[in-house]
Amino acid sequence: MEPYNYSLLNEKREVRRSNTYYCRNLIWTFAGALVLYIIVSSRRVKEIPLSQEEIELLDNDTTISPLFKAFYKCAKPKLLPFKGDIKDFWYNYASATEQCDDLGAYEALDLRPSKNRDETKYVAFPHRNENLTMVTLGIGHDVSAEVGLKTLYSNIEFFGADPSPEQNKDLYELNLGGKYFQYAVSDQNGVSESVILEKEGYQKETTQHISIDVFFKNIVQRSKIDILWIDIEGNEYAILKELHKNGKLDREGVKICQMNVEMHKDLNDDPNTEMQPFYDFVWKVLDDKKYVLMKPYFVVFDRFRFIRLFIVNVGDKECTDLYVK
Ligand SMILES: *[C@@H]1O[C@H](CO)[C@@H](O)[C@H](O)[C@H]1NC(C)=O
Ligand SMILES: *[C@@H]1O[C@H](CO)[C@@H](O)[C@H](O)[C@H]1NC(C)=O
Repeated sequence: MEPYNYSLLNEKREVRRSNTYYCRNLIWTFAGALVLYIIVSSRRVKEIPLSQEEIELLDNDTTISPLFKAFYKCAKPKLLPFKGDIKDFWYNYASATEQCDDLGAYEALDLRPSKNRDETKYVAFPHRNENLTMVTLGIGHDVSAEVGLKTLYSNIEFFGADPSPEQNKDLYELNLGGKYFQYAVSDQNGVSESVILEKEGYQKETTQHISIDVFFKNIVQRSKIDILWIDIEGNEYAILKELHKNGKLDREGVKICQMNVEMHKDLNDDPNTEMQPFYDFVWKVLDDKKYVLMKPYFVVFDRFRFIRLFIVNVGDKECTDLYVK
């Protein structure tokens, strides 16, 4: 009996001690969770809701596309917390707005992906059989997404520009059957510096520039660009600022129905060179009520941070007649 009692006593003591441990652990766990919650909730920026009047003004305006209204109501409250801070805006843009991609209004678009070696491009398919014009700015030694698109939809005329003809000219003309032009397309004409992706990485080189409006009007010779893909290492900002109402393209009567754009950062010594125009572009899009920004993707590549966007023109009748159901 003796050993049994002894062990029973021991067992009780064990139980009491583990109860104390249990309680103490619970308190510590709770305290830890509370601290974590406070840290997380203080860092998580809440949405700033739109005023009832702003929503009514938008809803009452019948000239604005339902797709834009849906985009605006979803994205603007999520972006308002970052207003005034171009750095926070850059780093949070994609995660803040990615939930705005499965909006009911977007079911009017027939979206299909087409893959390049290291990324996915998106295309809104036309609802009628029509000959389309596609322009690639920055070929970057890769036309697999263009070739994929051509297999999906054969009636496309391709025009590509890249300041470096090496590989690009042959790929665009022989593999794709498009027309190649040796230009850096931006917002100015003449000789100037461009960042070029070479085998050794990004390099600054002096190249022949052409302004986007002149390129479309005089070289491509089309006033409606159905599909535009832009990956031009920083020159994109000069082009994006001409897309809005009364921009160079609008004044020249050139319309672009849909775009895939890669927005670059860290190709210049001063990071504001790129974060500021990106910030300005997005707020201008919200003001202009002409484009929706879809498929935001934050790219982490080496020491670079890029943002990819798929942009659809929902403000031009010729575009919406063809691409919106
Ligand atoms: C929107 O339209 C409704 C109904 O026509 C009207 O009552 C309301 O005042 C309008 N709102 C604004 C902000 O114009
Ligand atoms: C498209 O272009 C081809 C020739 O390039 C032409 O034969 C055809 O009629 C055009 N189709 C439409 C719908 O315009």
